[in-house]
Amino acid sequence: MSFQIRSFDAYQKAFQKSKDTPDSFWRDIANSFEWIHPFSSIRNGTFNDAHVEWFRDGKVNITANALDRHLQSKGDKTAIIWEPNDPQEAVRTLTYTELHALTCQFGNALKSLGVQKGDRVVLYMPMTPELTIAVLACARIGAVHSVVFAGFSAQALHDRIEDAQAKIVITADEGRRGTKTIPLKETVDKALLNLTCVESVVVQKVTGIACEMLPNRDMYWHELVVGKPTVCTAEPMDSEDMLFILYTSGSTGKPKGVVHVHGGYMVYAGYTFSNVFQYEGDDVYWCTADVGWITGHSYIIYGPLLNGATSLMFEGIPTYPDAGRFWEVCAKHKVNQFYTAPTAIRSLMSSGSEPVTQHDLSSLKVLGTVGEPINEEAWYWYRDVVGQSKCPIVDTWWQTETGGIMISGLGGLSPQKPAHAGLPLPGIHPVLLDPNGHDILENNVEGLLCISQPWPSMIRTTYGDHTRCRNTYFHPFPGHYFTGDGAKRDDQGLYRIIGRVDDVINVSGHRFGTAEIESAINETSGAVESAVVGFPHDIKGQGIHAYVILDSKTGSLAEEDLCNAVQNAVIKGIGKIAKLDRIQFVSALPKTRSGKIMRRILRKVAEGEQTSFGDTSTLLDPACVDLLVSGAKQLQIC
Ligand code: WT7
Repeated sequence: MSFQIRSFDAYQKAFQKSKDTPDSFWRDIANSFEWIHPFSSIRNGTFNDAHVEWFRDGKVNITANALDRHLQSKGDKTAIIWEPNDPQEAVRTLTYTELHALTCQFGNALKSLGVQKGDRVVLYMPMTPELTIAVLACARIGAVHSVVFAGFSAQALHDRIEDAQAKIVITADEGRRGTKTIPLKETVDKALLNLTCVESVVVQKVTGIACEMLPNRDMYWHELVVGKPTVCTAEPMDSEDMLFILYTSGSTGKPKGVVHVHGGYMVYAGYTFSNVFQYEGDDVYWCTADVGWITGHSYIIYGPLLNGATSLMFEGIPTYPDAGRFWEVCAKHKVNQFYTAPTAIRSLMSSGSEPVTQHDLSSLKVLGTVGEPINEEAWYWYRDVVGQSKCPIVDTWWQTETGGIMISGLGGLSPQKPAHAGLPLPGIHPVLLDPNGHDILENNVEGLLCISQPWPSMIRTTYGDHTRCRNTYFHPFPGHYFTGDGAKRDDQGLYRIIGRVDDVINVSGHRFGTAEIESAINETSGAVESAVVGFPHDIKGQGIHAYVILDSKTGSLAEEDLCNAVQNAVIKGIGKIAKLDRIQFVSALPKTRSGKIMRRILRKVAEGEQTSFGDTSTLLDPACVDLLVSGAKQLQIC
C-alpha cells in the first residue's frame, strides 16, 4: 500500500505534504484502494457548513477492499483468529477466502429477509466470528449496521433500535463472559416490546439454551443460511453512503447516532491501521476491544482487513480463568501487535508481574492503548513488564466521531513520552483554543482540543438530527471541529490529553453523559432530582458519584434499600456498565439563582475537597455546600 510510513523522516515529509497540498496527500492515499468508479474531487464543503463530503462521485464498497481484494494474493491467509471465552474450547480461524464466502452467504440471507440498501440492521451480539460476518454482510449489501454493545440494557437497546428504525435485529441466544452467561435473546425480546419497525430477529446459537422464538419474526442463523449462495456482488455504494451508525453518549440524556460512510471511513481506517501499528507480513494483531465500540469497528474489523492483516478476536474477559489470560493468549497465538485499554492495564497491574512473566511474550513488537488517559505508573508497567522494555507504546487518541486514530505515535518511529498521545497523524491538524476561540500558541498550557482541517473519516451527521451534530461539534468554534477534550502540547509538539471538558464521564474507557445517568436515576420511585459527576478512580479512570434528592415519603425506608433501588434504575436504564460507584443522598443540590447546578462544587466534593470551593457567592444557598461535605463522609459505597 502506498500510504505506508516506515521512518520518522517519511512521517515528517508526509505531515508537511498534508499541510501544503492536502488534496494531493489524500488523493494518493485514497488511490491505494479499489474504486468501482473513480472519484472526481477530494473534498467539498467546510466545517462551517457542518457538511463535508469526501471523494465525490466515487463508487466503492468497503468489503470489496477488505475481502475480495486479497483473495488472489492472500486467499489462504488467516483473516480472523477467534479465541473463545473458555480456553479449553477450540480456536476458530477463518481465511480470507472463508470469511469472504461466509460474508456473501449471510449477505444473501439478509437479502432473503427483504433487507435493502440503506436499511438499518441492529447487531446485539457477543464477540463471535458471526458478529464480524454480520457487520461485513451488511456493508456488502449496502445495509447500515448499528452494533449495540451487548452489555446495554433492554431499555438502552430499545432506544437505539427505535432511533435507527431498524428492520432487522441480529443477536445470539446467550453471550459468555468468564463464568457468566448473558441472556441476549431475552433482552432483545424485552427491547422489542412496543416497537413495530423490526420485522425479523436472527439468533446465533452460542450456548444452545432453548429460546422462545416468535413465529414469523425469529429464526436461527444456522437455519437461515442453509442453501444461500456464497457469492454476492458487493453493492456499489456512493462514497458518502452510510456505512454504519454507532451510538455514543453526549451531554444530553439521549445518545447520539454517529454516522460514518463507505468512502472516507475506509480510507482513514486503512491508512491509520497500517501506520500506527506498523503491521507487516504475517504479523498477528490483537485488539482486545469489543466490536460494540468504535475501536472494534475500526481496529478489529475494518482497519486490519483493509490491510490484509490477521486480526485476533477474543470472546472472553481479561481475568478468566485468571489474570494471566491476555498474556497466555499472546503467547499461544504469537501476537505481534497488542492493543488494549488503560483500565485493563491498571487492573492487571494490580495482580503483579508474575501472571505476565510466566508467559513467553517475545513475539510482541508494538503495544497500544486507547480510550482514556493512561497514568505514568501504568504506562511504565506496560512498557517494562508486558513489553520487556523493547516494545514502543502507541497511546492512540481518537473518538467515535473521528472514525480513526488522530494523535498517536507510529509504532517505534516517533518520539514517545509517558501519558502523552504524541504527534498527530499526517493529515490531522490539531489546535488548542482558549474558551474565546483564540489559538493558544505557547506550549505547556491547557487548551480546548480542536481540529482545524477536515479529514476523511470525520463524523457526517448524528442520525436523524443534523442540528445536534452542528451544535455539538462545529458551532462552538467556527471553522473547527471541537473534540470536547482538554489537552496540552509540550515543547516537542507532543499532545497530552487531559480529559473531557463537557458533561461526559469516561468510565473504563466508556463514555456516559451525566444527563443520561441522571435521567435513569430519576426513574427510581421517590427520587426527585439527581446530579452525577466523575471522580478519579484507581482502576476505572473515573468512577461515578451520584447525588440524589429523595422525596419525604421515602424517609421510612432503609438507606440500603434506597441505594439498591437507585442502582437498579441505572442498570435498567443503561446497563451494568454504568453502575454507580457512590450514592450520596442529599437534601439540596448547589444551584445558582438561575437554577443551574454548579457541578464544579459537586466534583470537588466527590474528590474529597472539604474547604476550598472558590467563589460560591452566586449560589442560591451557599450553606448547602457544608451539608454536601459532611454527607460525603457517610455516603453509600456501591
Ligand atoms: C473519548 C472518546 C476512540 C476509542 C475509544 C473511546 C477519550 C480516547 C484517549 C487517549 C486520553 C482518550 C477522550 C475522547 N480518549 N483515547 N489515548 N488518551 N483520552 O471512544 O467512546 O468515542 O470516547 O475518549 O476523552 O474524547 P469514545
